[in-house]
Amino acid sequence: MENSLELHKIFKNAKDFMPINGTDYIELYVSNSKQAAHYYKTAFGFQSLAYAGLKTGLNDRESYVVTQDKIKLILTSPLKSGTNIGKHIDKHGDGVKVVALWVDDATYAYETAIQRGAKSYLKPVKEQDNDGEVVKSGIYTYGETVHLFIERKNYHGVFLPNFIKWETPHYNPKPVGLKFVDHMVGNVGWNRMNTWVKFYEDVLGFAQILSFDDKDISTDFTALMSKVMSNGNGRIKFPINEPAEGKKKSQVEEYLDFYEGEGIQHIAVATDDIISTVTALRNRGVEFLQVPKTYYDAVTDRVGKIDEDLAPLKELGILVDRDDEGYLLQIFTQPVEPRPTMFFEIIQRKGAQSFGKGNFKALFEAIEREQELRGTLH
Ligand code: FE2
Repeated sequence: MENSLELHKIFKNAKDFMPINGTDYIELYVSNSKQAAHYYKTAFGFQSLAYAGLKTGLNDRESYVVTQDKIKLILTSPLKSGTNIGKHIDKHGDGVKVVALWVDDATYAYETAIQRGAKSYLKPVKEQDNDGEVVKSGIYTYGETVHLFIERKNYHGVFLPNFIKWETPHYNPKPVGLKFVDHMVGNVGWNRMNTWVKFYEDVLGFAQILSFDDKDISTDFTALMSKVMSNGNGRIKFPINEPAEGKKKSQVEEYLDFYEGEGIQHIAVATDDIISTVTALRNRGVEFLQVPKTYYDAVTDRVGKIDEDLAPLKELGILVDRDDEGYLLQIFTQPVEPRPTMFFEIIQRKGAQSFGKGNFKALFEAIEREQELRGTLH
C-alpha cells in the first residue's frame, strides 16, 4: 500500500546500527570521462569540482568530479587497456559503479556490514593529503555495483584526498536547480528482488517502506515488481526492481540484457522548481520520455488541485501523483548512454513521500513505445 502515514512508522523499523548521513557521491565508469564531464556540465548544469589523473600522478585512470548543490558525480575512464575499469565498461557500457555513502565511521560500517554478510570490495583504507584524511571502505551490492563508505570528518579539501580542484574559468554553464539524490533504483534478475531486500535489511539495517507487485506495475504487455528500501533517517532510498511475466519483454529485462547484469537503472534527483529545471534541461538538449497528451485529461480528477498550472506541465510532459501527504511531480529522461540502460528522473516533492504509483502505467507504456522503436519489445 502506498500510504505515506504508514511510511513514517516503517522508517522507524530501520535499524540504526548503521547510521548513514546521506549519499556522498556516485561514480560512473564511462568511456570518455572528459567528454562526459562536459555533457553533465552543459546539459545538466553540473559545476566543475575536482580532477585526478595524469596530472596528479595516476597512470591508469582519469576522473572528473562535477557537482550541483549536494550532488557529486565522479566520471572515471581508464588510461590504458586491461584495467578493471575498462573491463567494466566493455561489459556494461557506461554506468554506475559506486554509490558512496557518507558515514561517521567507515571502519565500523565496513566491519559491521561484513559481519552481517556483505562481500568485501575494499578494506578500510586511510587516504590523506595536505587537507586532512578520509577513511574509505567498501562492499559489493547487486551485480558489480559497490557501496563505498566515506568517512570525511577529518577532511577539509575540495573533494577527496589526491584530487585537485578542477578549474574551468571560461566555461561554467549555470546550474538547473538540481538539489540532491532523492533515490536510486536498482534492476535485479528474475526472482532476485527479495534476496536484495534481505541484503539491505540484514547488512545495512534498511527497512522495506513500499512494495509494488506485478498488478501495480503492468501494462497490457509488460510487468515488473518493486520494493523500496530505506535507511533509518530516510535519506537513502533504494527501490529494487525485478522483471515479472508479461506478454512481452519488460524494461527491466531489456536493461539486464544490455547492461549484461544487474545494476543501477535510474538516479532520481530533486528540484524545488521542476518546471524551470525541466525547461532548462530541455533547452540544453536533455531528452525526456513523453507520455501522451491525453494523460493530462484525467490528471486533475486523479490528483485534485495543485499549485502549478497544468499547461506547462503538459507542454513539458511532467507527471503528477498524489498520496495522503501531498503530491509529487516527476519526469524521466531517455537513457544517457547508447545502451538502453541508465537514465535520470527529475522529481519535485510537495509533501508526498511515495514514488508516483499513479503514473506507473502511463510511464511504462511510454517506455514500451521506446522499446518498440529499439526493436526490443517482443
Ligand atoms: Fe524513481
